[in-house]
Amino acid sequence: IRTAILISGRGSNMQALVEAAQAEDYPAEIVLIASNRPDAPGLEWANARGLPTLAVDHKNYATREAFEDAMQTALEAARTELVALAGFMRLMSPAFVERWRDRMINIHPSLLPSFKGLHTHERVLAAGVKITGCTVHFVRAEMDEGPIIGQAAVPVLSGDDPATLAARVLAAEHRLYPAALKLVASGRIRREGEKIVISQDIN
Ligand code: GRF
Repeated sequence: IRTAILISGRGSNMQALVEAAQAEDYPAEIVLIASNRPDAPGLEWANARGLPTLAVDHKNYATREAFEDAMQTALEAARTELVALAGFMRLMSPAFVERWRDRMINIHPSLLPSFKGLHTHERVLAAGVKITGCTVHFVRAEMDEGPIIGQAAVPVLSGDDPATLAARVLAAEHRLYPAALKLVASGRIRREGEKIVISQDIN
């Protein structure tokens, strides 16, 4: 499956997907890495490896629609079949999300539906929960909403601060995301309403 990855920053999840996709039997091929921020470190990493990259700087577009049209054009030019958001920090319009319905996935650093949104680890620590984790889900118009494809649990340890917790969760993200993309790309899941049924567990 021809897969594009959208990033905004560091791109460590993108790296994990790229590295997984290098395996010969991996069902997804990374055909484009696009960033809305031209200075994203992840873009530099991908460029250095000769991967197909593109900056679509949202600041160059007067409206969100114009930005999304440019992104759509780039995705189509790469004959993208599946989009993986990896630390992509722009909310996409319902129209764009609808175009990629059940063909666009995202990773979020919590056990959804808990702790949607930004500053996740701070809020996890403030809430005092003892287990957190990460979630890969299909994208819907609402932020961090959508059918859940896979999750991994991560313990919150005494003495954690947002940085130590983020690092532990990130390590789990790097395992979960390639496994979840593999499930989607190999067609081993189906949607029943807003629930994903998996024919083979990954966690
Ligand atoms: C990850 O924790 C991801 O779950 C969240 O933002 C972070 C992005 O990190 N949405 P990276 O750019 O993949 O390194």
